Parts: sequence; C-alpha cells; structure tokens
Amino acid sequence: MATRPELSTVPDTRFFGHPRGLATLFFTEMWERFSYYGMRAILIYYMTHKIAEGGLGFGDDKAGAVYGLYASMVYLLCLGGGWVADRITGQRRAVLIGGVFIAAGEFCLVVPSETSFYIGLVLLMMGTGMLKGNVSTIVGQIYPKGDPRRDSGFSLFYMGINLGALISPIFCGYVGERISWRLGFGVAGLGMLVGLVQYVLGGKYLGDAGLHPASTGDPEKDRRQKNNAIKAVGGGLGVFALLALAGVAGVIHFTATSIADMEGWALLGISVVVFSWMIFSRGWTLEERKRSAAILVLFVASALFWASFEQAGSSLSLFAERSTDRHIFGFLFPASWFQFVQPIFVVALAPVFAWIWLALARRGREPSSPAKFSSGLFFAGSAFAILIPASMMAAHGGQVAIWWLTGTYFLQTLGELSLSPVGLSAMSKLAPDRAAGFVMGIWFLSTSIGNWLAGRAASLYSAMPLPQLFGSVAGFTFAAMLLLIFLIRPTVRLMSGVR
Ligand code: PHE
Repeated sequence: MATRPELSTVPDTRFFGHPRGLATLFFTEMWERFSYYGMRAILIYYMTHKIAEGGLGFGDDKAGAVYGLYASMVYLLCLGGGWVADRITGQRRAVLIGGVFIAAGEFCLVVPSETSFYIGLVLLMMGTGMLKGNVSTIVGQIYPKGDPRRDSGFSLFYMGINLGALISPIFCGYVGERISWRLGFGVAGLGMLVGLVQYVLGGKYLGDAGLHPASTGDPEKDRRQKNNAIKAVGGGLGVFALLALAGVAGVIHFTATSIADMEGWALLGISVVVFSWMIFSRGWTLEERKRSAAILVLFVASALFWASFEQAGSSLSLFAERSTDRHIFGFLFPASWFQFVQPIFVVALAPVFAWIWLALARRGREPSSPAKFSSGLFFAGSAFAILIPASMMAAHGGQVAIWWLTGTYFLQTLGELSLSPVGLSAMSKLAPDRAAGFVMGIWFLSTSIGNWLAGRAASLYSAMPLPQLFGSVAGFTFAAMLLLIFLIRPTVRLMSGVR
C-alpha cells in the first residue's frame, strides 16, 4: 500500500515550494486537458458541418445529444476509473492506461468514418475516466498527511489544467478550422502523447505515491478483493459496451431531450447508490462514514455550483453571440473568443489563491472547506446576478458592453478557485485510504450532474425572459449558499479533524 511520507522528514520544495512530483502531475494534466479541450472546441463543428466540408453532416439535434452524452459520460466514468485504480491497478498505472486510451481515441477521430468516430469517443470516455480523477488522487498522495501545502498545491495543479485549456483551442482550433477538423483531433492526440512521455520520464519523482492498489492490511483479503474486482471489471465492461451501444442507437433514433431525461435519472440513481453504500455500509468505520456524510454535503454544493458555472459554454455563449456588442477598437471579435477569458483569469489568479490559503494557514486562520465552498457559491450567484440588469438592457434586441460578461466570467473564476481545487483537496483528505480513487470519482460525478443541470438550464434560453432565467440561476445559487452556511459547523464536525 502506498504509505504517505511523514511530515517530520525534510519537505521537498523543488517545484515552487512544492514537491518535484507535482511538476510531473502538473504537466501530465496540462497535456491531458490540452487534448480534452482542444478536441471539445471543434467537436460540435465537426459534427454539424456538411460532409463536403469535412464534417459528419449531423443535424443540430443529434450533434447536441452526442455532445451532451460525451461530456457527462467522461466525468461519470471517473467513478469507475477510481475504483479500478483502488482495487486493481493503483493510480499510477491507471493514469498511464488512461493516457494511451485517450491518444488512441483522438487518432480514431482522425479516420474519416462515423463508426471510428463513435469508437474514438468511447475510447476517450474510458481514457479520461481512468486518467482525470486518478492523476488528482496522486496529487493528494505526494503530500504527507496534515501538510499545510496541500490546498495550495491543488491550486497550482489547477493552473496546469487551465494552461492546457487555454492553449489548445488555439492549436487544435486553428488546424481544425483552417486545414481539417480531423487533423485538429490529431493535434489533440499528439498533445496527449507528449504528456505521456513526460509522465513516464517524470515518474521517478513521485516516490511510491499511487503505485499500488489500496490495501486492507490483510494480504489474503487484498488478493481476494483484487480477483473479484478483475471479474467485476469484465462484467462492467460488458455493461458499458451495451450502454454505449444503446446510447448510440438512442442518439440516432430518439430525440435529444428524451436521452437527457434518461441520463438525469441515471445520474440520480447512481448518486443514491454510491452514498447509501458510503454512509450505511458496515464495511467502513464510524469515522469514515461520518466523513462520507460530509462528502455528501460538499457533493450537493458542488453539483449546484457547476450547474451555474458550466453555462459558460452554453447560455452565456448565446448571450455573447446575440446580446453583446463585441467590437473592440472597431474590430468585431468572434463570440467563441470568450472561451479564453476564464482560463486566463484562472491562470492569473490561481497563484494568488494558492498564496492566500497558505498565508492564512500559517496564521492558523484558514477557512474550512465548506466555508470556502460557500464563498464559491456566493461568487457563482453574483456572476449571474449582474447579468439581470445586463439582460434587461439587452431586451428587445439591444446589445450590452462586453464588460458585463467579462465581469460574469471574472466572478465565476473567483468562485471556481474557491471551490474546485479545494474540492479536489478535500476529497483527498476525507477519503478512506483504501477508497481514495473512488472518492475522487464521486467528486467528478458531482461535476457530471452539474453539467447535466447546466444543459437543462441552457435549454430554457429561448423559453423564458432572460432576466428571469439568469435571476432564477442566481436565486438558486444564493439559496444553496445560505443553506451551506448553516451546514458549515455540523459538516466540519462530521469531517472529524480534516479541514
Ligand atoms: N476546468 C475544470 C477541469 O477541466 C473543470 C472541471 C472541474 C472538470 C471539476 C471536472 C471536474 O478540470
């Protein structure tokens, strides 16, 4: 079992005051996100453009359904990826396998056929499921228990994520739009390969973090669990293949909305099963079960946060395109350029947040994770609140200054940095050692739900007046914040010593 280093040993500070291993993980995740966001930036265009234009010629309905299914499955599968790492492979090997799947998936998309397109998407879902959560889990494991640098380490790691998100649409988008969509996917695949080489070469700095599956302490029991897990994965893959087939068939034959409905129920069902198991199963100690209840509180807050945040690419993009005057010095810039704004803010502000947490921690005044989460919800709510006057001005076809949306994105980023890296860090602290990967998967499940809710909210865009839509999002988010503020104390108690 991966033992965590003791705090008493001399701390490794070779990467901006953090262990050198963080650099390896930082760049691995940077390239993975490069690949993910680069691919995502051109996915919808590739699907909707005519075959003569090098696209697949899908209608908006079908393209939207595939896009939604893909985006939420990617994070949902992190749950399975975390479990496989805990029981069979350990996180380190899981990340390697995930990276290979992702690169293979991107290269499948380069092939001009609809079949290889779907195969590629499935490989990408499985690969991201294996890589994304597990690389975050390893970040948690390179710090000794109780090391005050952990939250700030996750903030730095988060910068890597956004650096990848920032540069890839430039490369993949350029090659995709100017040369061919499919070659754009090839560039995304190459990025993942670079990341893999870096990961393998930098592995020596990771010590034994994530090297082995988690142990129960009894080798005989471990062996039995591993064998059962391997059998279960066989079954699980079968079920997944069936689901994927049903999904593709569904996309082709049903409407986008009926698929989205089914998916919502599936996500709810999975969450209920997961938390019932984590909180009520006798297999956990009382302390572990209490911590799982705390995870549930953070889980709900996180899902609601992402529900508003993830509208950045949907309803807010529509607002950018239809109701925002995008002239700067006489130049009309494309609406999609707004996609850069958030990652730029993140990269600029992540070090500031890392520094603030560390400075507060040194004085013993660092806020608890649920307190940081409530401020995340506050910023997310405010981001939509300022759009209420903006959308009133834009009623009847008017256009508002770009500063409104820029302000929204800025506030969203403050929220993101108060919640997202903190959430990753909290999961790594609250998880029982033998379920570290699985619990990280639970975190991604909350994102998956948030994305689903965001899609639903965005589909109301033309159905209700904008001030009402944005106002409701702000209202829900503020209500969640208030509720969470009342829950801070009991949650901190449930966390039993973890902050
Ligand atoms: N920008 C974040 C990322 O790509 C968004 C996200 C947060 C995704 C949490 C999944 C989970 O990592």
